[in-house]
Amino acid sequence: MKLFGISIFGLFLLTSCVVEKQPFTEGKILAGKKVSADTLNLGYTTYVEYCVQCHGMEGKGDGPASKGLLPPPRNFTQGLYKFPWTQYGELPHDEDLYRIIRGGLKGTAMLPWDISDERLDAVTQYIKTFAPEVWEGEDKVLGTKFEFPADPFGPEKKAEAIALGKKVYHVTASCIQCHRGYATKAEMKGWDSEAPEDLYSLKPQDTEYNYKALPPDFTYHALRSIDDMPSLVQRLMYGVTGSAMPGWKDVITDEEIWAVAYYVQDLRETGKDIKKRQELLDTFKSQK
Ligand code: HEC
Ligand code: HEC
Repeated sequence: MKLFGISIFGLFLLTSCVVEKQPFTEGKILAGKKVSADTLNLGYTTYVEYCVQCHGMEGKGDGPASKGLLPPPRNFTQGLYKFPWTQYGELPHDEDLYRIIRGGLKGTAMLPWDISDERLDAVTQYIKTFAPEVWEGEDKVLGTKFEFPADPFGPEKKAEAIALGKKVYHVTASCIQCHRGYATKAEMKGWDSEAPEDLYSLKPQDTEYNYKALPPDFTYHALRSIDDMPSLVQRLMYGVTGSAMPGWKDVITDEEIWAVAYYVQDLRETGKDIKKRQELLDTFKSQK
C-alpha cells in the first residue's frame, strides 16, 4: 500500500515537473508577429498535456501514441500544413490553425480539441517554434487568401450545377487522374473523352509526409477538412499542401469550382444511403 502511495506521488511529481517547466525566457517574432514568453510557456504546457502523445516532445510526429496511425501525426519540424485556407504551399494564418485544432481532421486520429481560447492561441504559437526556419523572423510572410467567390448557382440551379460539375470532374479538370470516376463509359464518350482503364480505381499518391495518400472516394471516405459547401469550395481553391491534390483557383473558373463542389457534395449525399451507393456502383459493373 505504502509503495503504491509513493509511486502515485512520484508520478504526480514527475508530471507536474514536466508540465510546470517554463522553457521560454524570451518572446519570439513568428512571421512578423511578436509572441510573448508567457504565451509560449502556456503553449508548451498545453502541448505537453494534449498533443505530445501523438506529435512527440520535439514535434516530430513520433509520440508514443503515433505508432501505426495512418495518416501519421504531423511532423511539425517540416513546417508544412495541409489544410489552411491559403494558397498551396504557403503558411497558414492563426485563424486557420485555430479552425483545424478546434475542428479536428475527420477520419484521422486528429480529434477536435475543446480548449480555452487562450490555450488555443498559445499552443498555435508554440507548435510554430518546432519549425524556426519557416516561422521565425520579420521576413516570413503568411499565405495568400483568395476572395471567396459567390455561389453562381443557388438552390434553383442545383441540378444544372451538378451536371456541369460532373463534366468538369471527369473531363475539364480530370480529377480522375487520382480520384475514381463515377460516370459510365457511355457518358465519357458523350463528352468526347476516352474512358481510362483505371477509371474506377483510387490511385495512391506520393506526399511530402513520408507515406502514400489515398485520394478519397467521395461516396465512402470522410473528408478531413470539410463540413459544408463553403469549406468544400475553400479546399478546392487551395488544394492539400504537400500532397498531389492541387489548388484549382485560376486553373478552372470560379463557376467550375462551385459546380464541381455541388457534384462532390451530391456524391457524398449518395454515399450516405447504402442502397443508393450500391445502385450507383452496379451501373458501372453492368456496362460493357
Ligand atoms: C491522437 C493523436 C493526435 C493528438 C493527440 C493530436 N493530434 Fe494533431 N494530428 C494528428 C494526425 C494523425 C494528424 C495528421 C492528419 C493528416 O495528415 O491528414 C494531425 C495533424 C495536425 C496538424 C496539421 C494540420 C494541417 O493542416 O496539416 C496540426 C496543426 C495539429 N495536428 C495540431 C495538434 C494540436 C495543437 C494538438 C493538441 C491540442 C494535437 N494536434 C493533438 C494526430 C493527433
Ligand atoms: C494529382 C492527383 C489529384 C488530382 C488531379 C485531384 N486530387 Fe483531390 N486529392 C488527391 C489526394 C492525394 C488527396 C488526399 C490528400 C490528403 O489528405 O493527404 C485528395 C483529396 C481531395 C479532397 C479531400 C480534402 C479533405 O479535406 O479531406 C477533395 C474534396 C478533393 N481531393 C477533390 C478533388 C477534385 C474535385 C479534383 C478535381 C477538380 C481533385 N481532387 C483532383 C489527389 C488529387
